[in-house]
Amino acid sequence: MKISKILAPVALATALSGLLFAQRLRDEAQHRGVLVGTAARAYLLSEQQYTATLAREYNLLEPENDLKWQTIHPAKDTVDFLPGDQLVEFARLHEMKVRGHCLMWGHYLPQWLEDGHFTASELRTLLHEHIAKVVGHYKGRIYAWDVVNEAIDEKGQLRSSIWYDTPGIGEARHGNAYIEQAFRWAHEADPDALLFYNDAEAEGMSRKSDSVYAMVRDMKRRGVPIHGVGLQMHIFDLKPDFNGIEANIRRITTLGLQVHITEMDVALPVDGGGKPRDPADVQRQAEIYRRIATACVSTPGCTAIQTWGFTDRYSWIRSWTKGRQGNPLIFDHEYAPKLAYKGLSQALRDSPAHGSAPNQ
Ligand code: XIL
Repeated sequence: MKISKILAPVALATALSGLLFAQRLRDEAQHRGVLVGTAARAYLLSEQQYTATLAREYNLLEPENDLKWQTIHPAKDTVDFLPGDQLVEFARLHEMKVRGHCLMWGHYLPQWLEDGHFTASELRTLLHEHIAKVVGHYKGRIYAWDVVNEAIDEKGQLRSSIWYDTPGIGEARHGNAYIEQAFRWAHEADPDALLFYNDAEAEGMSRKSDSVYAMVRDMKRRGVPIHGVGLQMHIFDLKPDFNGIEANIRRITTLGLQVHITEMDVALPVDGGGKPRDPADVQRQAEIYRRIATACVSTPGCTAIQTWGFTDRYSWIRSWTKGRQGNPLIFDHEYAPKLAYKGLSQALRDSPAHGSAPNQ
């Protein structure tokens, strides 16, 4: 057999891998001066396709559940950093930055804390110690933290929670002073970490996003250590208000705060077998990824776009919507890139650049 014949498959494979290489999201993002990230789960790091895709495509990783109270503090005197450490180490090995999620949230709390009947002052001590311990443990390894998650409700009011008013950490009578306190404690524990307020359904212009905006503007003006706002971007209705989202990203970044898209997914209506009810939704989903990523990439100050997982095989959406919606991510169940991947990739490639690679 002629040598060229033997080498033909190799040449083809090389050409193909060249193409694939050129498509890596992380290279495109780096080129555009933004980060492209995903939530990840430590227990899946044993799956070869999972880790290969994660390392190949992303330069930002956020533990989906492994840094939450319930995971880190399963019992009052137990601290478990193991799953978080595994993800942070994976990120280091693959030159990815890490977002930490999250230090203060009304959900995903361990039972001992929810049922503990603590006084305000005991809770305050518990929260302070938690923030100091967790942020301290990851000092220099986690570059940005969601310090406070989902503290505001759809009417723009502070949401009832163990931290705010049931019983609260003793700051509730001062409005959002308890939020500010968490930011100060996080800053003390790692003065170099970027600190974010993160929320859902506050992406476009609304009563809720007005309230988030007013709060972070006030904090920033008074010198509270806050550096950005996370817009979760869980999309359930395939009709996002792109103009509102663009305007909101713009007004937050104009304050001198960064915006991160932190938890994007686009849930499709699915049948009992998990297949999209309307095949055209797959195209709509891709367009939504493209438009949202474009809104971020083309606004200076919007520095990261992150999805809530990357393969439809592992997403919270099926269970959250009781099986009614699914397939929300950019890789399918077999790790093949979907049209949504192309949408995101196209936005990273074609949107106007707004800076060099981020070093924040
Ligand atoms: C979700 C996880 O994806 C699930 O695995 C877990 O069971 C519950 O929490 N907003 C947030 C995330 O800030 O932490 C949530 O993550 C999804 C909604």
